[in-house]
Amino acid sequence: MIYQYSEKVIIILASALLALIFCVKKLHSLYLSNKWNCQEVLRIKHDYFGIQNAKKLFAYRNEGRDLQMQRNLFIDYNTETLRQTLLGKDLIYTCSIENIKAVVNHQFEDFSIGYRHEAFKPLLGDGIFATEGPKWKIAKTVLRPQFTRDQISDLHNLEIHVKNFAARIREFKGEKFDVQDLVLKLTLDASTDFLFNESVGSLTSQDYVSGGYTFEEAFNKVQKYIFARGLLQSLYWIYNPKDFRECLDVIHTFTHSFVEKALKMTSSEIEDKIAKSGGYVFIYELVKITRDPKILHDHLLNIMLAGRNTTSALISSLILELARNPQVYEKLKNEVYLHFGDNENCDLDSINIDTMKKCNYLRHVVNEGLRLYPSVPQNYRCAKKNTTLPTGGGADGSKKVFIEKGQVVFMSFYSLQRSERFYGKDANEFNPDRWESIKNPGGFMPFLSGPRICLGQQFAITEASYIILRFCQLFPNLKSFETEYPPRISANATMKLRDGVFVSCS
Ligand code: HEM
Ligand SMILES: *[C@@H]1O[C@H](CO)[C@@H](O)[C@H](O)[C@H]1NC(C)=O
Ligand SMILES: *[C@@H]1O[C@H](CO)[C@@H](O)[C@H](O)[C@H]1NC(C)=O
Ligand SMILES: *[C@@H]1O[C@H](CO)[C@@H](O)[C@H](O)[C@H]1NC(C)=O
Ligand SMILES: *[C@@H]1O[C@H](CO)[C@@H](O)[C@H](O)[C@H]1NC(C)=O
Repeated sequence: MIYQYSEKVIIILASALLALIFCVKKLHSLYLSNKWNCQEVLRIKHDYFGIQNAKKLFAYRNEGRDLQMQRNLFIDYNTETLRQTLLGKDLIYTCSIENIKAVVNHQFEDFSIGYRHEAFKPLLGDGIFATEGPKWKIAKTVLRPQFTRDQISDLHNLEIHVKNFAARIREFKGEKFDVQDLVLKLTLDASTDFLFNESVGSLTSQDYVSGGYTFEEAFNKVQKYIFARGLLQSLYWIYNPKDFRECLDVIHTFTHSFVEKALKMTSSEIEDKIAKSGGYVFIYELVKITRDPKILHDHLLNIMLAGRNTTSALISSLILELARNPQVYEKLKNEVYLHFGDNENCDLDSINIDTMKKCNYLRHVVNEGLRLYPSVPQNYRCAKKNTTLPTGGGADGSKKVFIEKGQVVFMSFYSLQRSERFYGKDANEFNPDRWESIKNPGGFMPFLSGPRICLGQQFAITEASYIILRFCQLFPNLKSFETEYPPRISANATMKLRDGVFVSCS
C-alpha cells in the first residue's frame, strides 16, 4: 500500500517537474525571441506529433511529387518560410533567399551539417563533403587549386566517353530508350577517368571487381545506404547491413589500388608522366601535395560522389526539356552548327571553355536546366547555437525569426528557383530566352553560396555544355516520349527523374 502510494507521488512529482522545465524553456525562448525582435513563423496545422503531415509528405514522395508539394505549400500560405511538425520533430522550411543566404553564408558559423559526418563516414571518411571545422578547411585548401581553369579545360578525355555514349544510343536504332540511365554511366566513366586516368568503363564492358559486383553496382548501392543513414539522423548507426559493408569493401579496394599505384612513383616520375601525356590526372596532382594514403583515398571518393549524379541530373533534365521543346532544340542546334559545324564538319579541337562561352544560347539553356532542375534540390543545416533568421516572422513574414540551438532548417532550392517573385508568372516553364534579360539572378543558387560553395561549378558547367553540344551534333533528330509533365522527381541528396528520360534520337 505504502509502496503504491509513493509510486504515484513520484509520477506526479516527475510530471510536474517536466512540465515546469517545459514552461521555463518556453518562457526563456519567448524572452530571447522578444529580446532579439523576433516573431513567430507561420506554422502549418498539424495533429499530435505531425503524423498526418508526415503521411501526406511520404505519399507525395512516393509519387515523386514532394518537391512540388512543398512549393505549393509556400504558394498556398503565401509565404517563403514555414514551420512544420513531422513525426514529433519541429522543422523550419524556407525558400527565402535572405534566409538561405544567412544559413549558408552570412551566419555560416551558426549552423552545422548535422549528422552527415557520422552517417557518411564509412564511404567518405574525413573528406570535404562529410567534415566541418578545421578538417574541412584543410580539405578545401588542398582541393581548391585542383579546380582552376587549366585543370578543368581538358576535354579530350571526355570525348572518348561521349563516343561510347553515342555508340550505346545507336544500339537502339532510333527506338525509344531511357537516356538518363546512359548519362549516369557516362558521368561515372568520365569522373573515374578524370580522377585516376582510367575509367571503370560502365558504358563499354565492365569487370566484376569482386564479390560479384561491378564497381558501378557497388558504388550505386553504397550511396543508397549512406543516404538512408543520413535520414535516420542520430540513429544512423543502427543501419549497417552486410550488403553495405560488402559494397564498401569493393569501393575501398578499388580506390586503394589506384592510391598504391600513384604512391609507388616518385615525384619526378609523376612529373615526367604528366609532361609526356599532357593531360590532367587528379590523383597525380594530389600526390604532389600529400603522400598520406588515407587522405588521398578520402579526397578521391568525395570528388567521385560530388560530381557524378549532380552532373548527370543536369544533362538528363536538359535532354528531357530539349526533346519536349523542338523550337529550343532547333535554335540550339543552329547556334552550335554556326560556331562549330555539324558532326561531319566539326574540328573537335576548336571546342573549349572560351569558344563554348561565346555560345550565348547554350549558356542560357544550361542555366535554365540548373534553375528548373537543381541537382541538389534541397539541403538542410542544424543550428549550433541560439540564433535568428532575417525574415519569415510575424503576420507578413517580414520580421526576424528566433532559431533555437538544435533547430533543423530545410532550404528548398527547387522552390527558390521556381519562385514567381524572381521569375514571374511563367516561372515553371522551360524558357532559356529569359536569361537574355537576367543580369544578376536574385533567386538562383544551384551550386550553393558561401564557404561551402561547390568547388566543381565551372567543371560541371563545362562538362555538361560539352556533352549537350556534342549531343546536338551527333543526334540532330530528338523525340520525346514523356508521359507526365512536370516530370516526377526522386529527391534525395541529389535529384533524379523518377520515370527516367525516354526519348528516341538519330
Ligand atoms: C551540375 C552539377 C553540380 C551541382 C549542381 C553541384 C552542386 C553542389 C552543391 C549544392 C554543393 C553543396 C553541398 C553541401 O555542402 O551541402 C556542392 C558541393 C561540392 N561540389 Fe558540387 N555540384 C555539381 C558538380 C560538381 C562536380 C562535377 C564536382 C567535382 C568534380 C563537384 C565538387 C564539389 C565539392 C568538392 C563540393 C564540396 C564543397 C565543400 O563542402 O566545401 N561538384 N556541389
Ligand atoms: C537557448 O534558448 C533556450 C530557449 O529557447 C534556452 O533554454 C537556452 O538556455 C538558450 N541557450 C543559451 C546559450 O542562451
Ligand atoms: C546516384 O545514382 C545512382 C544510380 O541511379 C544511385 O544508385 C545512387 O544512390 C545515387 N546517389 C545519390 C546521392 O542519389
Ligand atoms: C593516361 O592514360 C593514357 C592511356 O590510357 C596514357 O597514355 C597516359 O600516359 C596516361 N597519363 C598519365 C599522366 O598517366
Ligand atoms: C530517392 O527518393 C525516392 C523517393 O522520391 C525513393 O523512392 C528512392 O528509393 C530514393 N533513391 C535513393 C537512391 O535513395
